[in-house]
Amino acid sequence: MNKLTYLILIGGVVFFIYSCKENDNNGPDIENYKPTPYELTIPPTFPQPKIPADNPLTVEGISLGRHLFWDPILSKDSTLACAGCHAPNLGYGDNLKTSVGVDGIAGKRNSMPLFNLAWSPQFLWDGSAATLEEQILNPVRDPVEMHLDWISAAKRLQNHPDYPTMFAKAFGECTVIDSTNTAKAIAQFLRTMVSASSKFDKASGISEPKTELTDSELNGFVLFIGTANEDAHCVHCHNKPLFSVTDGYFTNNGLDDWEDPSELTDLGLGGFNGNPDDIAKFKNASLRNIELTAPYMHDGRFQTLDDVLEHYISGVHLSPTVDFNIKSSFANGLKLPENGREDLLAFLKTLTDWEFVNDTAFYSPF
Ligand code: HEC
Ligand code: HEC
Repeated sequence: MNKLTYLILIGGVVFFIYSCKENDNNGPDIENYKPTPYELTIPPTFPQPKIPADNPLTVEGISLGRHLFWDPILSKDSTLACAGCHAPNLGYGDNLKTSVGVDGIAGKRNSMPLFNLAWSPQFLWDGSAATLEEQILNPVRDPVEMHLDWISAAKRLQNHPDYPTMFAKAFGECTVIDSTNTAKAIAQFLRTMVSASSKFDKASGISEPKTELTDSELNGFVLFIGTANEDAHCVHCHNKPLFSVTDGYFTNNGLDDWEDPSELTDLGLGGFNGNPDDIAKFKNASLRNIELTAPYMHDGRFQTLDDVLEHYISGVHLSPTVDFNIKSSFANGLKLPENGREDLLAFLKTLTDWEFVNDTAFYSPF
């Protein structure tokens, strides 16, 4: 080894020790600590989840994320946690038309329910966040949500009696408490929120114990997945097992009557990517837990599931970017058999997952 390499190596070691020591001074003393890997249970028939290589699930990371999700410390006046707009009994959404942030100002969109996010290819109604980690940076700094800059948020966490130790346990002793690691921990927690124990799942063998659907629920399911004349054609865009589309599919489901985009208040995916063909396209929401997540659509325009069905049965608008399937199957109204509407509603309610909603592993740790 020549002298220069030797000096560089020694320099590296000294720098490493120094940078860790600096962190040690702030509290944690957990040298050589390794977080415990966490194995996510993948429900039968679900595809492989998307978990980034640089943020594997660990018991300590998930626990930290759970605390951060429930802690109002990440909002300007320390009154609003993530859970304030993503509450368990509402399928981890809220019940407002559009969400209201710390300053009492309403945003322009309906809160999205949070579950099965490990399978989501893109995030937000307009797809403007490519990863879960990226999305989590938004609500904290968003003026109509938690309205706190990340430098202040990181300082608060750094000065907290418990968080420095929890970050060190989750990410190693030399970890920095910053927006990136905060988002990583919350993303880990959110990825463990799997919903696959609804009545529908029990009837189709995805979860135990085996149950049977009633005749009405079963008829509703057959209509839902059917694509013939008197069927409901929902399956084109809300396919099982996730009841959304897993390949980054955004569509215009015919909500608004417009010819020129200037008539719209929300351009959806097209507003984000600038592509005129994507105007008024929104994320194909999952219909799991749909009974709990009213009001509906990106702007919360429909109060009840029956209002949603009314839209698909007789209210679609054929605007320039409307989906091909809406044009071909819904344009003249859906013709459902007798009791079809009631059956569809009964089926949609079989997607409510009480085990998930009541799972205290996701509840406040405080
Ligand atoms: C003021 C209410 C509010 C708060 C607080 C809030 N959210 Fe949200 N959340 C929303 C709304 C509204 C949307 C949809 C926004 C959009 O599409 O523009 C959303 C969307 C999301 C999504 C996207 C889900 C999907 O399927 O694409 C995730 C993930 C999320 N929030 C996580 C969080 C986390 C984590 C926090 C805390 C750091 C948080 N939210 C705080 C209201 C809120
Ligand atoms: C062409 C694709 C398409 C078809 C077909 C379709 N949907 Fe949708 N659905 C969407 C999109 C996209 C959204 C979100 C739209 C928005 O908010 O702007 C949505 C939203 C919903 C919502 C509200 C979700 C929420 O979280 O607010 C419900 C409920 C729903 N659809 C039920 C159905 C039913 C029932 C059918 C069959 C009768 C159906 N959909 C057919 C694309 C489709």
